[in-house]
Amino acid sequence: MALTAYPVNEFGPVMKGLIIGGLGIFHVFTAQFAIGGGLLMCYFQWLAQTGRSRHARAFLDSYFMYLVLWSFVIGAVTGVAMWFTAIQISARTIGMMIDEFHWLWATEWTFFCLEIVAGYAFYRYGKRLTDRARFTLLILYAVAAWMSLFWINGILSWQLTPGGWTETRNLWSGFFNPSFWPSLGYRTIASMTIAALAACVVVNVRREFDREARRELIHKASHLMAPIALMPLFGLWYLFAMPADSREWVMGGSVAMTMFMNLAVFASFLIGGYAVLGLWLQKLYINGPSATVLVVLAFAATAGGEFVREGSRKPFTIRQYLYSNSITEDEVASLRASGVLAIDPYPLRDAETYPNEQVQTGAKVYRNLCSICHTPSGINGLTHLAGTWTPTQRRMNIAKLQRTKAFMPPFASSADELEPLVQWLGWVCDGRPNMWPDSRETPSYAATLQQIQAWLDEAGTAPATRAEIERALAEWREHR
Ligand code: HEC
Repeated sequence: MALTAYPVNEFGPVMKGLIIGGLGIFHVFTAQFAIGGGLLMCYFQWLAQTGRSRHARAFLDSYFMYLVLWSFVIGAVTGVAMWFTAIQISARTIGMMIDEFHWLWATEWTFFCLEIVAGYAFYRYGKRLTDRARFTLLILYAVAAWMSLFWINGILSWQLTPGGWTETRNLWSGFFNPSFWPSLGYRTIASMTIAALAACVVVNVRREFDREARRELIHKASHLMAPIALMPLFGLWYLFAMPADSREWVMGGSVAMTMFMNLAVFASFLIGGYAVLGLWLQKLYINGPSATVLVVLAFAATAGGEFVREGSRKPFTIRQYLYSNSITEDEVASLRASGVLAIDPYPLRDAETYPNEQVQTGAKVYRNLCSICHTPSGINGLTHLAGTWTPTQRRMNIAKLQRTKAFMPPFASSADELEPLVQWLGWVCDGRPNMWPDSRETPSYAATLQQIQAWLDEAGTAPATRAEIERALAEWREHR
């Protein structure tokens, strides 16, 4: 088995998926601001040098300072933090992404470097350059920033819709996957919108513009929001490029996913409505507080969108290939025989706080198979979800994990490691007492294992089927 075992870290009551998701939102928002900002500055430079706006140049120079400050500082910090958390939380996923796409990733970095160099050159020399040179530099900056989106977008969208890659393992069919174009279009529009809203804030912050100048600049900036009219189109296209089960999760099948989806849609519509009606048609003025509220809404829309993208992949991080708990689809069968602890050579942290060796084993199984999506009793906590279940219910529902909830992967270990997990769960649900019986010492132990094995066999090693997902969704609707 070509499994690479990485140590599994835990982060207390916070779900690991949330850490990377939460950080990702800041990073994506910042990156999109930088991309849209590049396009906006090109537009304002053109307005200035063709005499279409008297204030465009002064505005451009101060906007640029905010953009650089925000995107170079927050972007750099969150970017490094993304790599750091990715290797902490899901080393295998990020490892596979790099393995598969290393040259494309290198290409992305090249454009990113170009973006930084162009940005720095403009920061340093922009005020002294001729219009022509300024324009060239800004175009270089904008193209480089957008191209880095182009490359990263292929890699990220591949995680959700690997498309033909699943069969062919062809790099380009993975890159230009079914959600590549809708996602690129959607993100480009989002970038332009964020940049335009940020411009409305900057206009209000700067003291050098009088009311008339502000009105004009805001009106010009709002032009960048015009493409938001196409956003529903790209949104729907994206939704239809998604696998059917993921689409259903976000359209009612999972409460949390649906909530984030609605948040994204609602915030985008508010912004879109304001952009089209308020700014474009009627040349409305927008003051600092309202501009800030709109930026916050854009942030909420980004947050909703990113959570949907990350969450709707469940139970995969790379669809039809790698499960969220870093086990591939075709490794499950052999792990059923060997047990998952065969690939975990690392000691347990605070091993002495557990009441016996069986519970220690259970804690290790939990950290390998469940801790990526659950905490013991924090967010998505198992004590809340399974606290009232009997040991038998726990055994059965865990053995049939992918049927218990279709967004969980199949259980990837043996019967004699499932039982310790059930014991660990019982111990945690009981408030972690000092003493806990070892179930191997009970007379019915052999029968218990046999029963678990039968359930495991019944559930099989494949992910939930379409029919099982349909059934789960129907059940969910009934319960509502
Ligand atoms: C890919 C992420 C993921 C993994 C891995 C995962 N779960 Fe879950 N699990 C979920 C989600 C999401 C829910 C639904 C929570 C809800 O309904 O609020 C859930 C629900 C549950 C429930 C409650 C089911 C019900 O019918 O109410 C239990 C029990 C559970 N998981 C146990 C486990 C155990 C044990 C493991 C490890 C062997 C595990 N899960 C692995 C995501 C995951």
